[in-house]
Amino acid sequence: MKPFPPYRIQVVKEIPITTRQQREEALARAAYNPFNLPASMVTIDLLTDSGTGAVSAAQEAAAAQADRSYAGSDSYYRFREAVDDLTSYPYSFPVHQGRAAERVLFSSVLKPGQISLSNTHFDTTRANVELLGAEARDLPCAEFGDLDSREPFKGDIDLDALERTLRGPDGERVGQVLVTITNNGGGGQPVSMANLRAVRSLCDRYGVPFFLDAARFAENSWLVVQREPGYGHLTPREVARQAFALADGCVASLKKDGIAPMGALIGVRDPELAKRCEVNLIATEGFRTYGGMAAHDLERVAQGLDEVLDPNYLRSREADAAHFAELVTQAGVDIVQPAGMHALYLNAGRLLPHIPPHGFPGHALASELYLAGGVRAAELGSLYLGEFDSDHNLLTPAPFELVRLAIPRRTYTQAHLEYVADVLADIAKDPSRVASYRIVDAPPLLRHFNLKLKQIPAGS
Ligand code: F0G
Repeated sequence: MKPFPPYRIQVVKEIPITTRQQREEALARAAYNPFNLPASMVTIDLLTDSGTGAVSAAQEAAAAQADRSYAGSDSYYRFREAVDDLTSYPYSFPVHQGRAAERVLFSSVLKPGQISLSNTHFDTTRANVELLGAEARDLPCAEFGDLDSREPFKGDIDLDALERTLRGPDGERVGQVLVTITNNGGGGQPVSMANLRAVRSLCDRYGVPFFLDAARFAENSWLVVQREPGYGHLTPREVARQAFALADGCVASLKKDGIAPMGALIGVRDPELAKRCEVNLIATEGFRTYGGMAAHDLERVAQGLDEVLDPNYLRSREADAAHFAELVTQAGVDIVQPAGMHALYLNAGRLLPHIPPHGFPGHALASELYLAGGVRAAELGSLYLGEFDSDHNLLTPAPFELVRLAIPRRTYTQAHLEYVADVLADIAKDPSRVASYRIVDAPPLLRHFNLKLKQIPAGS
């Protein structure tokens, strides 16, 4: 029997239907940067799966009972109960969102000149390491380098490279190992439990703390149950507990697998580290029992953490992503294989061979998706990861030219995703028509949010 969502839809929000002419005008006004588009001009918004999930009636009922006491609110204790059931970290703090959790934890762990090692640092994670004067170094496994291979755990960290670094001349400077589950910057691929166990033992051997960036811990756990030998008989909750237990602590944006509009978590074992985090948290986010979160979001997270681990929900979400992946591949657009759960990553470089890296094939495909069908997506290619000179000339392209189609939780039906696949199929019929782009203006930091571009029509 085909999996189906274990809920029905009780509250809906209308989505805008626009004409191509309106979209052309809107994208030009946005300086060809989808981040500048008003949501009122977007039909299907696949920019992110963060804070965009549909909340449940149970979450809203809990939110209505929120206790806004400054210290020790009932809502805090419900949040703690949900977190403690999963993580077993003796110290945990609510924080308003993932990047704030990163700032608070990393500034309590890392010193200038130290190195943070990861399978892949997410962009805000990298920024929070670098703002401390430390270095963020990615060590994705070799399998990730082949976008088409169907290896089950292409999110793993490269254990040989990790050991070489810890043992080598830079070893002294390694301040933390941070494993992102699932690996959002690396094609949304899961990390195996075997890999996490090996990281644990290397970190023990070399005396380095090991943290998880657990924004998508439930989806990682589900894919472990599905794909890793020896885990098929466990529930996703049991796997999640084992994963958290292997690390010394975590940061986790709860806007993803907390299915909440806002929220995050820091968990740690070391009491001295917890004290440093707490001081920083109180000074910059809020008291330790709310950490910048509104009471109603503490409630939504507590309930969301329970709902997200329902095997029926996870099974149906995995099936949605797999179905979407199948339609997109049939349409002639290759994706990073195998499909994960929170997003598809389209291989724009392969679809648009007439556009060189300095014409930004990923951005070109994302823009065409908007122009052709009102679909908003994010480029993950040279525009985002390339290196530029001060005149915005591309010096070093990104290794891959990708577009991420993020799938918000419980928000779109299969018919919406089928519509997106149809739009892609139309584009793939004659990709040579797709325009390329040139940078007009770019800020030195967090470039992709504030870029201005110019469209260069195909053939000109
Ligand atoms: N870590 C990972 C792996 C993430 O994907 C994100 C956010 C963060 C940390 C930061 O969390 O947004 O709560 O501050 N990812 C979103 C995305 C924005 O679209 O992938 P945040």
